[in-house]
Amino acid sequence: MEERTIHMELCSSRKQKPESSQLEFGKVFTDHMFIMDYSDELGWHDPRIVPYQPLSIDPSAMVFHYGQSVFEGLKAYITPEGDAQLFRPEKNFHRLNRSNQRLCIPPIDEEFGIKAIQQLIALEKDWIPTAEGTSLYIRPFIISTEPYLGVAPSRHYKFIVILSPVGAYYKEGINPIKIAVENQYVRTVVGGTGEAKTGGNYASSLKAQEDVAKKGFAQVLWLDGVERKYIEEVGSMNVFFKINGEVVTPALNGSILEGVTRNSVNQLLKHWNIPVEERAISMEEVYEAYKNGTLEEAFGAGTAAVISPIGQLAWNDEDLVINNGETGDLSKRLYDTLTGIQYGRRDDPFGWVVKV
Ligand code: COI
Repeated sequence: MEERTIHMELCSSRKQKPESSQLEFGKVFTDHMFIMDYSDELGWHDPRIVPYQPLSIDPSAMVFHYGQSVFEGLKAYITPEGDAQLFRPEKNFHRLNRSNQRLCIPPIDEEFGIKAIQQLIALEKDWIPTAEGTSLYIRPFIISTEPYLGVAPSRHYKFIVILSPVGAYYKEGINPIKIAVENQYVRTVVGGTGEAKTGGNYASSLKAQEDVAKKGFAQVLWLDGVERKYIEEVGSMNVFFKINGEVVTPALNGSILEGVTRNSVNQLLKHWNIPVEERAISMEEVYEAYKNGTLEEAFGAGTAAVISPIGQLAWNDEDLVINNGETGDLSKRLYDTLTGIQYGRRDDPFGWVVKV
């Protein structure tokens, strides 16, 4: 039975806040965090907001050995009137529960999770940065904490929410990034955990990413794990290609993360009467479009990345320079509209924004 009252333990002194124009991604954390425990006997219980602090966890806790964990990512924004607001948090909690289901983790009450975040953000409102392109990144996550080395679903968990004032995810900011198509490794396969937001997907992406980083690429573009032919996602964002006036994004096939920004982009494009298709798209098709001059734009979409134009795509031994390596009109329009809604500078015709 879930308790509804969130116990508050406030810290005695507040940390110094970083200069908001100097923020990087995910390096600084606020004064407080939210925690709630789970046991098979009590269910999710003891929700509390406490000072941000290290955790004391048994070294045999299952998360350290078998990686049974899930996470989410969303942001809080400050409006011109000084109000704090969230963007589509219900989608994140819905996805969290889908990830939970895949990882055999007990579900969270979605409404209560949003309420917990609202209460935490209200307390940490002064941490929401105001410089252009900055926001307060919210990282809810669940770890399995039962001390046991058998391979089985844990019977104890912690659900934690930490907050980090952030700037742009890529060092390029909102300028176009360079991406390399990954030919050696795969991220996941249909039937695997690709559509769940679980740490293992990201751990398995590191080697490929490290290899291409040495050559100046921001990230890799993953192809499907069976035929190595169809485009999947970047790992930190979903991808879109504008070919001959139409936008194509890989269909959700079970191995691609269902991004909240991806969904919002699709809705905006439909609203603007710009044709958008969710379907399988191969790298050959993108290459063909590049060669015949119809590949107009490519961009990634994600909570951390927002809208990230792709200026260069390396595939086999060729560099596809897209839109002269510049931000395309559609990427710009999407970025301006999405951030306009998120920061409360534009109307919100879809009812996406949730006040804190
Ligand atoms: C997000 O966009 O919130 C993500 O979770 C991507 C990330 C791994 C930084």
